[in-house]
Amino acid sequence: MKQRTPVFVNILIIVGLLTVFYYLFVQSYSFFASPYFWGTVAIAAILAFIHNALGDIIENNKFKKLSEEEKAVYLQEKKIPFLKRTYDSAFKKQTATEEKDILIDHGFDGIMELDNQLPKWWVGLFYFGTVFCIVYVSAYVFTDFASPIKEYEAEYREQSAAVEKYLAEQPPVTIESAAFSEDNIAAGKEVFQTNCVSCHSEGGRGGIGPNLTDGFWHNQPEKTLFKNVFHVVENGVTGTAMQAWGKNGVLSGTEIQNVAAYVYSINQLQKPITVAEGGAPPYGKAVTWEKQ
Ligand code: HEC
Repeated sequence: MKQRTPVFVNILIIVGLLTVFYYLFVQSYSFFASPYFWGTVAIAAILAFIHNALGDIIENNKFKKLSEEEKAVYLQEKKIPFLKRTYDSAFKKQTATEEKDILIDHGFDGIMELDNQLPKWWVGLFYFGTVFCIVYVSAYVFTDFASPIKEYEAEYREQSAAVEKYLAEQPPVTIESAAFSEDNIAAGKEVFQTNCVSCHSEGGRGGIGPNLTDGFWHNQPEKTLFKNVFHVVENGVTGTAMQAWGKNGVLSGTEIQNVAAYVYSINQLQKPITVAEGGAPPYGKAVTWEKQ
């Protein structure tokens, strides 16, 4: 007669499995504080005790039918603690008589086959793996668990928040601290497309506002081109359609730094757009800018 697993071991296994399953569906350990979790544990524990009580009755009945000798062996075995018994049975070698019992009735060249039981740890792992797989796949399909898109979105939100926080903590860009950088040209182009093309046209060739690609300038409050653009965009040109984008709070210092980098790039890093090419005629004086 086989020894049974003690009820506390079964309950421990059940709590372990419930923890894994709850975690897969809830995706945090917050369920430890939930009455639902402990309710399920309590129900499972009650079922385990009922199962154990039924096992006791069956065990008693079977025990009565054993011979005196078998009863003694059984009681002897029952005294060994559960963990030691499990450990022993996992690594135990069959005795010669036991081998006879499990010998399969075929062989070849004297090589015989034994109908060994699969090791308990192996069977346990196999069942656990199967159940885990089913729960994992259904959690993956029916909830947000392990969804790469959701994980990406969450991480993206975190990163953007971190970037925004960092930028908010930076001192605002002013005309003194502003500097040209090629890295800002692309961002500056976007600012230009949104705010400036209506007057300065595509590529800054000029329209209502002057051509920004040539060497002629009407406003020259600063000595270098980049700072000059920054100044004009920040303060505007009073009495004209060119508003004070910075002072009016439309563009931030960073945005002005970016758009100034873009205007610098179309003025210095490419050929001017001439009247023949559809550019606006020169406005103001020819200027030689100081180096940055
Ligand atoms: C509503 C039309 C309008 C918009 C929009 C506009 N501008 Fe202007 N801009 C003008 C006009 C008009 C002038 C010429 C002012 C003058 O007579 O000195 C000007 C002048 C300038 C100048 C100085 C040119 C010079 O020769 O002195 C720069 C640089 C400039 N704008 C950049 C920008 C940038 C960058 C933006 C977008 C953030 C922008 N502007 C948006 C109309 C506009």
